[in-house]
Amino acid sequence: MGFRRFKTQKWLWIFALLFFVLLYLLAISLPNVNSDSCECSPTTGKHQLPAENAENEISDHHNSNHLAVIVPFRDRFQELIEFVPHMHKFLSNQSVLHDIFIINQSDNFRFNRASLINVGFVHISLLEKFDYIAMHDVDLLPVNPQLKYVNPGDGFALHIASPKLHPKYHYETFVGGILILTIGDFKKLNGLSNKYWGWGLEDDEFFHRMKQSGIKVLRPDNITEKENCFRHVHDSKKRVRDQQKCYDQKTASRKRDRITGLSDLSYRIDSISSLQIDTAPATLVNVFLDCNKTLTPWCSCP
Ligand SMILES: *[C@@H]1O[C@H](CO)[C@@H](O)[C@H](O)[C@H]1NC(C)=O
Ligand SMILES: *[C@@H]1O[C@H](CO)[C@@H](O)[C@H](O)[C@H]1NC(C)=O
Ligand SMILES: *[C@@H]1O[C@H](CO)[C@@H](O)[C@H](O)[C@H]1NC(C)=O
Ligand SMILES: *[C@@H]1O[C@H](CO)[C@@H](O)[C@H](O)[C@H]1NC(C)=O
Repeated sequence: MGFRRFKTQKWLWIFALLFFVLLYLLAISLPNVNSDSCECSPTTGKHQLPAENAENEISDHHNSNHLAVIVPFRDRFQELIEFVPHMHKFLSNQSVLHDIFIINQSDNFRFNRASLINVGFVHISLLEKFDYIAMHDVDLLPVNPQLKYVNPGDGFALHIASPKLHPKYHYETFVGGILILTIGDFKKLNGLSNKYWGWGLEDDEFFHRMKQSGIKVLRPDNITEKENCFRHVHDSKKRVRDQQKCYDQKTASRKRDRITGLSDLSYRIDSISSLQIDTAPATLVNVFLDCNKTLTPWCSCP
């Protein structure tokens, strides 16, 4: 009997031992389960990584001030060869993050500076990385480093080619040459009028667009050397401006245009290519503009 009791006791001991061993195994395996889930979290971490990056990209985007220089262009290759390297150097020296877009009018209608800027704007908007634009003549080179191409913020336009500094135009409401606006404001204004074929006055119409929308025109201040702020690369003998007026263009050009702009812009992009002039990069956009001959028969004079 004593032996049997011992035997039962022995089995009890074995069961007890097994129980504790199991308990022990369970105990050490629990952290294992945890460490398994730890191994999972880097996986979820991986999923979070792009989200974090996206967040950085968004904040980068908001912190950055990326400028699109939009240059309406036709047939001025000598000016272009000078413009791109000069602007790239000038803006880089100011640490202005920028890209240059040459909008080349390829159709046979008269030059339409305003519509080309509108096309440039639509193009750069689709790239979704720009905060502000400079509408820039190809023949007006800033040379005074005090001319800062900063983002004026919504509600303001920065007129770099100020009438006080421009070599040629000195009337107070002049906003041509080089004008800087935010993407949002340019969109809000419906861009520029598409009615201006041939040289001039589209900028005066734009002045009234801005005025009526409450956009305030800022001009560079604290310029110590007012002389020679710009180099005007324009040979007026070689380059005769298209000042012709046909049909009722003269009357229409003096009117505020409340209809045309980004909303009715009609064009076809023929090609887009990257170019480099003296290591300075730019994008060339070849554009065919459409002309509504009922609305603006003066897009080609007889
Ligand atoms: C670069 O900027 C500095 C400081 O504004 C100025 O002194 C210098 O002339 C500029 N250089 C060029 C090439 O614009
Ligand atoms: C601009 O377009 C015209 C017409 O398509 C073309 O002949 C000319 O080479 C283009 N200009 C540049 C700089 O590519
Ligand atoms: C212009 O210069 C004055 C005096 O040096 C200075 O107080 C002011 O902040 C400057 N304005 C700008 C916009 O830099
Ligand atoms: C051209 O302009 C006229 C007058 O504003 C307008 O009635 C017509 O719809 C326009 N045509 C096109 C093709 O947009």
